[in-house]
Amino acid sequence: MCGIVGAVAQRNIVPILLEGLKRLEYRGYDSCGVAVNNNGLKRARSVARVAELQEQVARTEFEGNTGIAHTRWATHGAPATNNAHPHFSTKDGEQRIGLVHNGIIENYEEIRTELKALGYVFESQTDTEAIAHLVNHMYDGDLLRTVQKVVKRLHGAFAIAVFAKDEPQRIVGARLGCPLIVGLGDGENFLASDAMALAGSTDQIVYLEEGDVVDVRLDGVQIYDKLDLPVERRAQTVQAYSGAIELGPYRHYMQKEIFEQPRAISDTLEGVLGFTPELFGPKAEAVFNDIDSVLILACGTSYYSGMTARYWLESLAGLPTSVEIASEYRYRKPAVNPNTLVVVISQSGETADTLAALKYAQELGHKHSLAICNVGTSAMVRETELSYLTRAGAEIGVASTKAFTTQLTALFLLTATLAKMRGRMDAEAEAFHLKNLRHLPNALQSVLALEPHIIAWSEAFARKEHALFLGRGLHYPIALEGALKLKEISYIHAEAYPAGELKHGPLALVTEDMPVVTVAPNDTLIEKLKSNMQEVRARGGQLYVFADGDSQMHSSEGIHVIRLPEHYGLLSPILHVVTLQLLAYHTALARGTDVDKPRNLAKSVTVE
Ligand code: G6P
Repeated sequence: MCGIVGAVAQRNIVPILLEGLKRLEYRGYDSCGVAVNNNGLKRARSVARVAELQEQVARTEFEGNTGIAHTRWATHGAPATNNAHPHFSTKDGEQRIGLVHNGIIENYEEIRTELKALGYVFESQTDTEAIAHLVNHMYDGDLLRTVQKVVKRLHGAFAIAVFAKDEPQRIVGARLGCPLIVGLGDGENFLASDAMALAGSTDQIVYLEEGDVVDVRLDGVQIYDKLDLPVERRAQTVQAYSGAIELGPYRHYMQKEIFEQPRAISDTLEGVLGFTPELFGPKAEAVFNDIDSVLILACGTSYYSGMTARYWLESLAGLPTSVEIASEYRYRKPAVNPNTLVVVISQSGETADTLAALKYAQELGHKHSLAICNVGTSAMVRETELSYLTRAGAEIGVASTKAFTTQLTALFLLTATLAKMRGRMDAEAEAFHLKNLRHLPNALQSVLALEPHIIAWSEAFARKEHALFLGRGLHYPIALEGALKLKEISYIHAEAYPAGELKHGPLALVTEDMPVVTVAPNDTLIEKLKSNMQEVRARGGQLYVFADGDSQMHSSEGIHVIRLPEHYGLLSPILHVVTLQLLAYHTALARGTDVDKPRNLAKSVTVE
């Protein structure tokens, strides 16, 4: 993970770097740092947030027109100042090289041993410092040439930005397996992990390709490919959502993003007049006619949207569907059916395991791939044949909310399109589903209006250390997502089970101290679910039930019920999950945790 920003300009770039770091904190926030090359290398580092680094820098004369900065998600070494980037390498008592890095260098121990034997002193436990010393060791007065040689010795995944004291107004960047972009300004140029970091400085963005090395100078940039040959890469105008970092009336980005869901879903549906393959790209019709099954690959919350979609794809479109956690799929030897549509789901489009699983599936012989993604310029969208962009807008809170509901919306569109093409959805059914989709933003507003009732529950939850979530069928993945939300932001241990499994183990945990959240839509499984709820009540468990307005469920002793609007059929998961997002948010708020930046986590997981 980690975020990188670099700039070469004629003005003081420290404020730009720090602003960029703030926008990259979603990539990790264990520590941060900034360095300038201004008559010698200078740096400031902090194990607190970027705001603290800003204060540190303001207290000293810290300026420069060439600089690199970094926000860290710790892999090698604890989140301590000595492990924070930028890392410097010294020769003959002089700090010569400064470097920031995102990724993991697998052969760093070997490099470290070699350089230690040559007298280099390591101040950190990071793999990064080994690269800084290696650059220093191989430095021949030309940073570009040196970095081109250094990267050939590195195994693993990396994006780096490096500068040398003796070459002011020059930064060299390189990427392999981790994102790095170049921003082209007017008489100034930039490097960053994503375009959002540069919003306000430039919208002219070049996406580096695997193995590229880039020479960034004041008057221009030159990119070299993995064979060290100069290449032209097209600049794109990218509207990075600088406004996304405004909180407005909300206390946290997560709360803001929960409340943005009606807008995000209506944007995701913009231009959808019917279920037509063109929505997914010009080749979609041919691809969809060629497939007989679906394989979904994803991580985290995106994996749960895939699990939900499986119920839709099998029941509506009649397509055998499997859903796999990307980090598992990429290391097993699956049986391959080349007529499978591989669907990757990702908010960021950069998640290392999902990206690697996609490439692995392609290597194994899968011909067809589709990305459901929130970032149109991401690696995943570039590497797939088809795509559908969710229009959630930038999601800043680490716990995903609007990305999830927009993914579900896109997955329902995919299902309906495949169902129609396979002769399983007539015009009447299409009109019915379209109407329901269009009404979703309004239905969501009614769910959001339940917030005060959920706040009342959250006070009881905040005092618990464990919680159980139950769901059945389509709503089992929603229970999983609810448990994930609660554990990641409130640190309450939460587990989800398909309610029918209760008696095979988790019932042993049920006491009056264990709240049991039940996702109870008024669907065909409601009677079965009610029996499962009785099993909990009989053991003294406290039930917190999200039911639909038209179901016969009422609060009574040990059973607390909040009613959603009427049952929303196949799209019901999109409404039910919002109540669980709000429950997690308000419970975390009551416990005083750092809601938007939960401990040890990061938004974009670009390492394995
Ligand atoms: C991290 C984030 C989650 C996200 C997951 C997958 O764990 O904290 O919110 O669901 O990565 O990310 P992706 O960008 O691929 O959806």
